[in-house]
Amino acid sequence: MKPDNRPIGIFDSGIGGLTIARSVSMLMPHEQVLFFGDTAHLPYGDKSAESIKSYVSRIADFFIDNDCKLILLACNSASAAAYPMLHRLHSETHPVLNVIDPNVEYAVKQAYKTIGVIGTKATVTSRAFNRKFASAKPELKVKSIATPLLAPMIEEGYFNNNISQTIINSYLSNKKLDGIEALVLACTHYPLIKNEISRYYAEQKSNVEVIDSTDVIAAYTQKYMQKHKMLAAADRHPEHQFCVSDFTVSFQKTTNIFYGEAVKLTHVPIWG
Ligand code: DGL
Repeated sequence: MKPDNRPIGIFDSGIGGLTIARSVSMLMPHEQVLFFGDTAHLPYGDKSAESIKSYVSRIADFFIDNDCKLILLACNSASAAAYPMLHRLHSETHPVLNVIDPNVEYAVKQAYKTIGVIGTKATVTSRAFNRKFASAKPELKVKSIATPLLAPMIEEGYFNNNISQTIINSYLSNKKLDGIEALVLACTHYPLIKNEISRYYAEQKSNVEVIDSTDVIAAYTQKYMQKHKMLAAADRHPEHQFCVSDFTVSFQKTTNIFYGEAVKLTHVPIWG
C-alpha cells in the first residue's frame, strides 16, 4: 500500500482545537498536521449557523488548496452548524470528519441510559448531539445545557482555581443535568477543566463518567484513516504548521495552554 503523506487539515474557531491537534499528533506521530484557527471570527459559540457555515466553507478551500488528505472539523460549534454542508460539498474528494460522531459512537456503546452534554450556545441550540444520539440509540435520554462562560474563562487562564471551580459547580448543579451517568465535554476547551468537572461529581458522590473527547476523536480519526488506507509512511517525523486568520501576542501565548507546549502561529489573512 502506498503511504499518503499529505497533511491532515485540522480546523477550529480559534486555538482551543489545539487540544485535538495534540491528541491526533500524539497518537499518529508520522502524520503532518496543518492546523487552522479562525481567530478573526472567534468565538463561534455565539454566532449564527449561517455565519459559521460561510467561514467554514472558506477555510475548507484553504485546506484543499494546501493538498490536505482529510479535513477534521475539530470545533464542536462548527461541526454542529457546518458539517453536513461540508460533507456534501467535499467528501467525494476530501473526506470530512467532525467531532460529534466520535463521541456519539463511543457513548452509545456504553451502558448509559442518560447522558449529559455541555458546550457552547451554538452547539447546544443546534441539537446536533440530540439528533445523532436519537438515531444511534433512541432509548438514550440526552440532557444538554449551554455553558458559555467556560471557554473564555479557560482562554484567560482561569482553571484549577477557586473561581473556575465555582463557575463549573454552578453550571453542573443545573437541575437539567440531574440523573446523568456520563457527561460529554462538547467543546474544544473543556479537556482543560476535566479534573474540576470530575471533582464536582466526586464531591457530590455521583458516579458520572466525564468523557475526554480528545482521545475519542483522535482514535476515531486514526481508525477512519486506517480503514481508508490514508496513513502516512511510518518513518516520517513531519513538522506541523499552525495557522490563524488573525494574529495577536495573546493568541500566541495561549497556544501553550492548549497544545501543552508553545507552537509558532503563522498569520494567514484569508479574509483579506
Ligand atoms: N471551538 C469552540 C467549540 O468547540 C469553542 C470556542 C468558540 O466558541 O469559538 O465549540
